[in-house]
Amino acid sequence: MFFNQIPATPPDPILGLTEAFRNDSRPEKVNLGVGIFVDERGATPVLDCIRQAGQQLQETEKTKNYLPISGAPEYGEAVSRLICGAEFSGLATGRVAVTQAPGGTGALRIGAEFLRQFRPGATIWVPTPTWDNHKKLFGAAGFAIKDYPYYSSVSHAVDVDAMCEGLAAIPADDIVLLHVCCHNPTGGDVDAAGWQRVAEIAVRRGWLPFFDFAYQGFGDGLEEDRRGLQTVLAQIPEALVAYSFSKNMGLYSERVGALLMMADDSSAARAVLSQVKRIIRVIYSNPPKHGAALAQTVLTQPELYRRWVEEVTAMRQRIAANRQMLADGLSQRVPEQDFSFITRQKGMFSYSGLSDAQVDFLREEKAIYMVKGGRINVAGLMAESLDYVCDSIAASLNM
Ligand code: LMR
Repeated sequence: MFFNQIPATPPDPILGLTEAFRNDSRPEKVNLGVGIFVDERGATPVLDCIRQAGQQLQETEKTKNYLPISGAPEYGEAVSRLICGAEFSGLATGRVAVTQAPGGTGALRIGAEFLRQFRPGATIWVPTPTWDNHKKLFGAAGFAIKDYPYYSSVSHAVDVDAMCEGLAAIPADDIVLLHVCCHNPTGGDVDAAGWQRVAEIAVRRGWLPFFDFAYQGFGDGLEEDRRGLQTVLAQIPEALVAYSFSKNMGLYSERVGALLMMADDSSAARAVLSQVKRIIRVIYSNPPKHGAALAQTVLTQPELYRRWVEEVTAMRQRIAANRQMLADGLSQRVPEQDFSFITRQKGMFSYSGLSDAQVDFLREEKAIYMVKGGRINVAGLMAESLDYVCDSIAASLNM
């Protein structure tokens, strides 16, 4: 039989952890694997702004007719303003084209398919380390993949000098993947001066930046988190941005994202969008409506937008408090080590420095799940399990 010849593949290193966690019967289990936010009761709530938008849609929606291939134009406009800032001149001059996409992953993959067709010889450069799925996704699209230096496990932060040296050596025809904020998996972000250097290198070298922007608002704020991106977009002619509402609107299962393409002029932007629509048409034809309609409602109604900003702020503050609790808890147990880096990292994740053997020990012996490489989803911590998590991590450090 044909199917009998197909070998099974191991579970996904991130999403597969959730499956393993669900099947774990140990009552003390803690899931710090996949990047989802949980509140103090352990729930991943539907945001209030989303609930209100949903009620409105239920009352006003008149049809389930197909959306345009690139999604509702109003969605695209609202997302472009959120990504770039209303003041960005590329929006006014029509240099920016945007399409709805099935989550940030879908946006990356649509962008990858487009680049593969129109920049076929290019290599894509990703930071070391990067989100596990980046290499797989660009590999699946047929790209050669190379790394540029990013994170220093000594300083527990971005090594901007090494990064810039790496970026300055990348050939003009290649593509460079950059995390806008809340770097996944490290939590190490580039500062304002670093972004200026990146922009200058991008201008000088001429490679094409492909930004991954999946955590807006989880670092320092919705506006603050896009500043690095704005710095680069203001100085270069062309770029792609993959965007996700999974985290900042809690729309994980709705798969709501966007791919933004900034071209040198409006006719190039139109041509690029026409090709991207062709690519989408042969993959999933046109996008699902509900999640994007929720996001669009929140983004375009001032009251709901204000409520969203409050809710993003509350999530960000909770993650910051979790960071502090974790750093304090570990410092008390292992005073000879400095854990203050946990409080300086941004977004959902902390690159703990734990080895794969320590990560395995924590899962096998303590039922604490985290991603290989030592990534902890800080947004998944709860006060009630903090002592257990800190005791267990301390035990793993003494292995
Ligand atoms: C993560 O890195 O945990 C999230 O981005 C979820 C995913 O799709 O991997």
